[in-house]
Amino acid sequence: MRLQKFLARGGAASRRGSEDLMTAGRVTVNGAVVRELGSKVDPLKDEVRVDNKLVTLADQKDYFMMHKPAGYLTTMFDPQGRPTVCDLLPKERAAGLFPVGRLDYDTTGLLLFMTDGELAHRLLHPKNHVAKRYLVTVDGVLTNADVMQLSEGIELHDGLTKPAVVEILGAPLGNGSGTNHLKQFKKLNTNERIQLAAGELPVVTTEASITISEGRKRQVKRMFAYVGRPVVSLHRQAFGSVVLGDLAPGECRKLTTEEVAGLQNAVRMEAV
Ligand code: URA
Repeated sequence: MRLQKFLARGGAASRRGSEDLMTAGRVTVNGAVVRELGSKVDPLKDEVRVDNKLVTLADQKDYFMMHKPAGYLTTMFDPQGRPTVCDLLPKERAAGLFPVGRLDYDTTGLLLFMTDGELAHRLLHPKNHVAKRYLVTVDGVLTNADVMQLSEGIELHDGLTKPAVVEILGAPLGNGSGTNHLKQFKKLNTNERIQLAAGELPVVTTEASITISEGRKRQVKRMFAYVGRPVVSLHRQAFGSVVLGDLAPGECRKLTTEEVAGLQNAVRMEAV
């Protein structure tokens, strides 16, 4: 088995992260540092260590979901000491778990964690087109023309987006004057903020659902910004067949066997 695959399966890091560990000289096989990415190991005979810690192919893999609140970075460690999603994982389970992809600091909703690097790698691989569904509130009135453009593809700086499924969920709130929520919010004084919270100011926002099968950085925000409707809030409801449901913000739970199987099926991976 290739060493980076072994490391990923053993929960040392994602496949890409495992390669970084190797090239950084942090991986030893039977006591010798191995940096070459093509290197092979025999899982039954070889002793593999990262930073001198033994890595084994655990029989029992861990799969979790979290309802990520706003205000947390999607990383297991922040050198600047800001709040991270790691702070919300059960302490006794956090070892070896890593997040599958990332949600922005201010994005809320479903975040998957696992120790299974192979499955995580496949779920994130663009060729597998795993669907991610988001609930989005945008500034202004989202028109049918916007919906069509978002659905068909947007030319972002990193290429054309793949077809998306976009649905307007509710009539825009407010008086329809096109008031820009974000700009207006910055100018508000305390009294106006209170009025805004009480729904007494004319604010126009539209709620929509968008399902994308890619995972580019800040993709949803960039797509809506392109059509002139900046995102006010973003919440992930589903990742593949796994849905967030009523898990409270900041809470985590183990995925069920069926949920794990659903993810494995989506990327044509056999259960282990
Ligand atoms: N798209 C974004 O723009 N942000 C996220 O956090 C997730 C998807």
